[in-house]
Amino acid sequence: MAGAKKLYIKTYGCQMNVYDSERMAEAMGGAGYVETDSPDDADMILLNTCHIREKAAEKVYSELGRFRTLKDDKPDLKIGVAGCVAQAEGEEIMRRQPLVDLVVGPQSYHRLPQMEAQTRRGAKALDTDFPLDDKFEALKSRGPKARRGPTAFLTVQEGCDKFCAFCVVPYTRGAEVSRPAARILDEARDLVDRGVREITLLGQNVNAYHGPGPDGTDWSLARLIWALDGIDGLERIRFTTSHPNDMTDDLIEAHGTCSKLMPYLHLPVQSGSDRILKRMNRKHTAEEYLRLIERIRAARPDILMSGDFIVGFPEETEQDFQDTMDLIEEVKYGYAFSFKYSTRPGTPAAERDQLDEDVKSDRLQRLQARITHHQRAVQDAMVGRTVGVLFEKPGRLPGQMVGKSEYLHAVHVADAGLAPGDLAQVTITESGSNSLGGRLATEDGATAAE
Ligand code: 5AD
Ligand code: SF4
Repeated sequence: MAGAKKLYIKTYGCQMNVYDSERMAEAMGGAGYVETDSPDDADMILLNTCHIREKAAEKVYSELGRFRTLKDDKPDLKIGVAGCVAQAEGEEIMRRQPLVDLVVGPQSYHRLPQMEAQTRRGAKALDTDFPLDDKFEALKSRGPKARRGPTAFLTVQEGCDKFCAFCVVPYTRGAEVSRPAARILDEARDLVDRGVREITLLGQNVNAYHGPGPDGTDWSLARLIWALDGIDGLERIRFTTSHPNDMTDDLIEAHGTCSKLMPYLHLPVQSGSDRILKRMNRKHTAEEYLRLIERIRAARPDILMSGDFIVGFPEETEQDFQDTMDLIEEVKYGYAFSFKYSTRPGTPAAERDQLDEDVKSDRLQRLQARITHHQRAVQDAMVGRTVGVLFEKPGRLPGQMVGKSEYLHAVHVADAGLAPGDLAQVTITESGSNSLGGRLATEDGATAAE
């Protein structure tokens, strides 16, 4: 496009930020911007930030400092900060870093084009409101429909009312809000028309989804999944992130009966100690979590479980930590994310006595070793099995294609004439450090000759 201005977006943190960045890029497309991969030739730089742990916020400040020379060379360059750091520290960012022209919180993204126009008139723009309008409706792209890759995220629910004692999300993303089901279904159909075959439904508390359905009743996440299941051309459905207390019976049942719903569930528990779970305000015990997983596995025996863990939460003793290790031993996660507790200003746990950094680091190391052990075992056990793979992109070797199995493992296949978007049965033949290798299986399940 002749004369188009260039927008560079850098995204930190979770998948919801990835989704939001795509929406912001589309909205700015309407204001004459095209995306660029490099900050050097940009007319506007937008950092979409994450506030979940300390380091994430500090990274933003150091990144901003690096843009100084760019702005010296190009005074018209506009620099914006979006996301959860913007929401939590908007005014402080403006004060601390005069390079910043614009600060926009996650609930105000639809106002971005007007805010950009304001910066072009030489003013600073800050918006961290929680307006009631439907942000996603306003952000919808009205321009030409670009082709998409085979997988996409779709936000269905935002915010959180749970107030876990360590977490900033209820403050940065606000109260729980579910989007109307009809709008989600429209967006899903549009994605499928543009080439998408797998959709991951996103929400900070996605299984608490309770959006208004087209029939006038409130739909659960399971009801929404069944409606998506009816979309021709959509082959796979995933959702993340869930809270154990919102794993309803209909959702557990869907894992057993809905063939498009993939056998992978991210269900964070954070700790295996009842004492710490209580102090975290998680509102369930370790035993309740384990019984829940039993029920999920009864519905879908091969489901791959994934989780999040925090070590070194205030008052965590060695015994509490051992309880977490025992829970990990029992669940045998196929995947897990683990973090040292990070003090977040404004959250209840920030006021409590903190553990030494050394203790946290030592526990994290031991926990990660245990998780890696299980992760490996689960991945290695795939060898010899035939699994569905959705291919996404060429691999590193000529002719190689890489995709994801139903269980979210990366799988590569050599020289089989595959294209992105192809879905094929693959017999797994090897388990590498970060991915699986395999060969296309024939119709009857035997492996095709190489
Ligand atoms: N410190 C460390 N980890 C945290 N998480 C959320 N808040 C904190 C914190 N203050 C982790 C939790 C959550 C994941 C998204 O990030 O494990 O599930
Ligand atoms: Fe944060 Fe998740 Fe707890 Fe909500 S449920 S407060 S998003 S950890």
